[in-house]
Amino acid sequence: MTPLIAHPNKKLSGDIKVPGDKSISHRALMIGALAVGQTRIEGLLEGEDVLATAAALKSLGVDIAMESGTGVWRVSGRGISGLCEPDTVLDMGNSGTAARLLMGVLAGHPFTATLSGDRSLQSRPMDRVIKPLAQMGAVFRTRSGGRLPLSVEGLAQPLPVEYELPVASAQVKSAILLAGLAAPGTTRVVEPKPSRDHTELMLSHFGAELEIEDLPGGGRAISLRGQPELVAQDVVVPGDVSSAAFPLVAALLNPGSRIMITGVGVNPLRSGLIQTLIEMGGDISLENQRREAGELVADLVVKASSLHGIDVPASRAPSMIDEYPILAVAAACAQGTTRLEGLSELRVKESDRLAGMARGLQASGVQIEEGEDFLHVHGTGGAPAGGATIATELDHRMAMSFLVLGGLTAAPITIDDGSPIETSFPGFIKLMNGLGCKIEETHP
Ligand code: S3P
Repeated sequence: MTPLIAHPNKKLSGDIKVPGDKSISHRALMIGALAVGQTRIEGLLEGEDVLATAAALKSLGVDIAMESGTGVWRVSGRGISGLCEPDTVLDMGNSGTAARLLMGVLAGHPFTATLSGDRSLQSRPMDRVIKPLAQMGAVFRTRSGGRLPLSVEGLAQPLPVEYELPVASAQVKSAILLAGLAAPGTTRVVEPKPSRDHTELMLSHFGAELEIEDLPGGGRAISLRGQPELVAQDVVVPGDVSSAAFPLVAALLNPGSRIMITGVGVNPLRSGLIQTLIEMGGDISLENQRREAGELVADLVVKASSLHGIDVPASRAPSMIDEYPILAVAAACAQGTTRLEGLSELRVKESDRLAGMARGLQASGVQIEEGEDFLHVHGTGGAPAGGATIATELDHRMAMSFLVLGGLTAAPITIDDGSPIETSFPGFIKLMNGLGCKIEETHP
């Protein structure tokens, strides 16, 4: 446990880069491992979640190396269905994305592998991925309730399926598509609302054939032709918008601040938070927009602003699902009420984020109403009281959100454990303090 305290800070300023996108980093490693030839990855997130994916792929026979000094990673792909049976349990750490996407990859391999993870990951539902992958022919044995540890026995040629997702989930969609790579025929996934499309973009970048249809009612269908020849590529991973969210909100809310965050991925299916903060009155501009490995990238210029509460529609949730904790912090300091709807998925993230935000904000002097799938935050229009100690429950985004809040409250905020931040944002404290924050280790 690493307890941390965030003291109230003054204006923030500086130009920064945030670490590489976590979702894209997992995919670059996995798809690189299934391609033929050597994939070169620049900007890979070297956080614990992605390192868990790299370690698991190494246990599956993939040669992965980092060039010292340059930060460039090289993955020697083994081709589709080319991974080897592991002789150890694959430890996916804290990462739901690593576990669920790898289950898809393993469904297309004719051997048995066992996956485990930390206490948080062992409590998360896996049946949402098991159900479609079992239809494709993979066989699973799980702990009760469809939880990790679990074993998966895949097959060389899974059945191509058509599967309609009950909830918009990029992890489930991606698991099916990754299994579909080995299937002889077309795998089709229908999603009720578009979720992040990094898997589709990365697979296309490596030469797979995909057809995307927008459906009446706002859904989307993705068809993948099975058994393509994936060819190794160069990948540049953009900065993670979900990590950029923390300095971004901190700068918006500290009077007099101006920061620039360069090279941030602004894929429209990921950047719902930026749209929402602009609607709340935030002064954020996207400059120098360009495309890298199929992904839209921009430099974000953020200036302190007076925010006001708004109603955030449930339909926007898939495009900002990981950003609700930090959005709730912004809402807590805004003028008026912000209504966040359609949040049931937050209950099955690294922790129950809906309950955790409600508890932590209340303890910090913010009035809230929590429902099964909504959070209404009554903003203080200034500095909330603070002075709370927050249990982060192995959840990196809860940890970082409350450290940002501690910079804005009248009294400091303590978190019981900052170590989960390493899963997604190595260097967070140094980067935030470099902008003007005051976060340090403490002994509560
Ligand atoms: C992710 C998808 C999202 C998100 C997670 C990363 C991905 O989960 O919360 O942090 O990389 O595909 P769901 O697809 O389960 O909503």
